[in-house]
Amino acid sequence: MTKIVQGTIGTCGVHFISDKAQLEELNLAYAGGCFEPDYLNTYYLPLADGTSVLLVGTKNGDLKNPNTIKELAAAACKEMRKLKISEFTLYAKPLLEEEKFLSHVVQSICLVTGKAKSFKTEQKEILYAVGLEGVENFCQSCVEEGIVLAEAVLFARDMVNMPANYLRPEDFAREIQHFVKDTEVETDILTMDVLEEKKMGGLLGVGGGSEFPPCMMVLRYKGNPDSKENTGLIGKGVTVDTGGYCLKPAASMGGIRGDMAGAAAVAGAVYALAKRKAKVNVTAVMPMCENRISGGSFVDGDVLTSYSGKTIEVANTDAEGRLILADAVTYAVRDEKVTRVLDIATLTGAVVGMFGFTVAGVVSDNDEMWEEFWNASLESGEKHWRIPFDKEHEKMIESHVADIRNMGASVCGTITAGLFIRSFAEGLPWLHVDIAGTAWVDDPIYAYQEKLATGTDVDTIYRWLNQ
Ligand code: BES
Ligand code: ZN
Ligand code: ZN
Repeated sequence: MTKIVQGTIGTCGVHFISDKAQLEELNLAYAGGCFEPDYLNTYYLPLADGTSVLLVGTKNGDLKNPNTIKELAAAACKEMRKLKISEFTLYAKPLLEEEKFLSHVVQSICLVTGKAKSFKTEQKEILYAVGLEGVENFCQSCVEEGIVLAEAVLFARDMVNMPANYLRPEDFAREIQHFVKDTEVETDILTMDVLEEKKMGGLLGVGGGSEFPPCMMVLRYKGNPDSKENTGLIGKGVTVDTGGYCLKPAASMGGIRGDMAGAAAVAGAVYALAKRKAKVNVTAVMPMCENRISGGSFVDGDVLTSYSGKTIEVANTDAEGRLILADAVTYAVRDEKVTRVLDIATLTGAVVGMFGFTVAGVVSDNDEMWEEFWNASLESGEKHWRIPFDKEHEKMIESHVADIRNMGASVCGTITAGLFIRSFAEGLPWLHVDIAGTAWVDDPIYAYQEKLATGTDVDTIYRWLNQ
């Protein structure tokens, strides 16, 4: 992992500039002809004495917004990466209007300079050391938080990016087990025999069509033994979603290996909470499976009996996420005794149509929970927006043959998907996050992203629970 130290390091200094007048203070007034300090503009300048500077523009960037801070730090580091400069000093003061932003700066540095999993046969690893200059209150705890969050986000990205043939459901569970092994997190993997014994018809209905068996992973972190509160974090872990018999068209197959970003986010957040010894109790439940076609796969018109006992009419085999989440929510409520439920999933194409690739859709029946989550979202800089619902939407998933249907009408796809899951939360405060748009970007939208998996919502969930 990247080394972050206080003070000057390397021979390249990175300066954040909002106004050309600042170039004079740096004796670089002459660079003003070639550099406009517009937001995220960069200009690299080798100097006569063998040192160099990188200028990064901040003009029109909102320096009170964490997303801006993350972007600026990342843009600088990406430039260093491109130039193959592995030791450099960030003059970070302009990014630190608030002391806590040091955590965001460090997170971004580590995201860009950290190493992602690769399947190229020739790999080069560059070790980075970054000095921070101009940081008056060098908050060690903020630095550590930034490093831990970057580890968690990079892990989530790696999992989501992993090809389906390298990451079967049980491999995914073992990877998480390995990732949290040096923390206080307790792990459990419910394998096929347990799922059958418990009659988890939703997870078995979807996952049973694959040669690679489904499983359910549980993570328990009890950072506040004096409290009876225990937040359930339920993350969709479909390691590959072909659509099943409602097969996806070839053009939509691009991201089908990334359908476990919800589970990855939840695992990353629990890791970060445990590493930071947060005073909170959480239980993560991650149903993991493949959605494939085989001789015995489920088909439209089937009726599944969920773990809760409630029967489900399968109206579309591609709406598989909610079927496995239903069992996971019931398990969290009944077996793990959680006191409120957050579920997170790459669930609907509809949310992508609504918000694109930068805003996640939230559906919640609890104003207080939404308020808390919204504040966390402002702190992380990851965007979320709440979508309304009412009785008319609940009607859309009524079934003529079973207790509920796994798909609504052709409208309100994000709402009906959420409400389907809510119906398994047994009245507990519930908040649902649909990250189908934000979990995956073909090309980076924000400077701290890379191609493909974003590792979204690790940061927000961590900040939400780390109160
Ligand atoms: N995993 C998909 C949702 C998805 C779509 C994720 C695009 C990422 C990008 C989910 O399982 C799915 O296929 N949902 C269907 C539901 C429909 C059949 C009711 C959808 O949104 O089309
Ligand atoms: Zn699907
Ligand atoms: Zn899916």
